Amino acid sequence: MAKLDVGDLKVGQVLQATFWPNPKEDSRFTLRATHLDGQRAPKAVLTSDPKIVAGAPCMVRIVTIEKPERSDHGYIEVAYEGPAPFAIEGIYLDPWVARKLQVLLESGLNILLDGPQGSGKSVLVRTLAETLGMELVFYNCGAVIEASDFFATIQVRASESGSPVTDFVKTEILEAIESASESPDKRYLVFLDELNRCPETARNALMPMLDSFRRVYHPIEARFVPIPDNVQFVAAVNRGSSFTATFGIDAAQLDRFAPLQVDYLPGEEEVKLLRRRHPDLGRPVIERLVSVASAIRQSDELMRGLSVRATEEACIYLSHPLMSAMSGEAVLHEVIKSSFCGRFEGRWDDPTSEAGAAWHVAQRVLRETKD
Ligand SMILES: Nc1ncnc2c1ncn2[C@@H]1O[C@H](COP(=O)(O)OP(=O)(O)OP(=O)(O)O)[C@@H](O)[C@H]1O
Ligand SMILES: [Mg+2]
Repeated sequence: MAKLDVGDLKVGQVLQATFWPNPKEDSRFTLRATHLDGQRAPKAVLTSDPKIVAGAPCMVRIVTIEKPERSDHGYIEVAYEGPAPFAIEGIYLDPWVARKLQVLLESGLNILLDGPQGSGKSVLVRTLAETLGMELVFYNCGAVIEASDFFATIQVRASESGSPVTDFVKTEILEAIESASESPDKRYLVFLDELNRCPETARNALMPMLDSFRRVYHPIEARFVPIPDNVQFVAAVNRGSSFTATFGIDAAQLDRFAPLQVDYLPGEEEVKLLRRRHPDLGRPVIERLVSVASAIRQSDELMRGLSVRATEEACIYLSHPLMSAMSGEAVLHEVIKSSFCGRFEGRWDDPTSEAGAAWHVAQRVLRETKD
């Protein structure tokens, strides 16, 4: 993980930190943090501010930097500034992403989350809606075939006489737009998940909704209706690889969103998350799994990321009595072959395939981390 330099910090700056009781008992400060904005701090971050709660992420303001010129001495004293944006237990949010999101949400702009698969985009949006008390409308664009699908679906039912009748049924998006004008005190967050997976022509139907005209064509009333200010849109796109693949959305459509890049949570945060969810598994095995996953994600040969769902699935296998009773490396290898390599094209034992390349990376890391 990146380490901050003293030169990056100045008195008055506001950063995010999580404090724990200061292990130095003779210190005049009761609380200590080791990280600022998710990066290792160059000196101990200390405070006795009674408004700070141990273990709860918060925003702090730098009061003094003692001995900035010395790398082995000094400390950074901070004071409470406010709660961390969208702090929710069990969810890791990159401090910069959280900060940018807060600005975008306050300004009402459409947001586009761009990140590899299983990097927490959906979790992030759910968290946001919960934290901000917004009504969440989750819409899977992958299921859209035609433009009108965003707002209404056609259902055929039998009438009393038995002859078929066609009904228009409003989608949750249209319902949310209608309820938002009736309840101006509520805020609605419409999440267009997997926006890149619906056909281009269907996405075009969203354009008037996303630009400054903010209106949609109501297919049942056959007229354009305005979108009230208390409706905000967030979309997510999933790139095959964070470096190479494009997600095939045209520039004019993209330009209607404020893009925000999301990435996999840092290794140590993924270890913490998995340890919380699988307390029976020892730290070393979780650390090895995460090291393998990180190496696969960073591999230039592999065009796709490796979801946090994969590390989670590996932990589920390893904590099951059928597996946990077995000792040795073999069980870990087996689980990685299926949960990690199995997510790539080909097979783990075919070195010319992506799965084979993933297995190659995994074997190297497993050798390096074997005690
Ligand atoms: N930052 C995170 N904090 C907590 N859990 C996370 C985080 N990132 C990923 N996860 C875990 O990984 C799983 C996948 O996350 P999520 O569904 O949000 O990913 P996604 O980016 O929306 O994936 P996709 O692109 O496939 O839709 C979640 O169930 C969650 O448990
Ligand atoms: Mg998702």
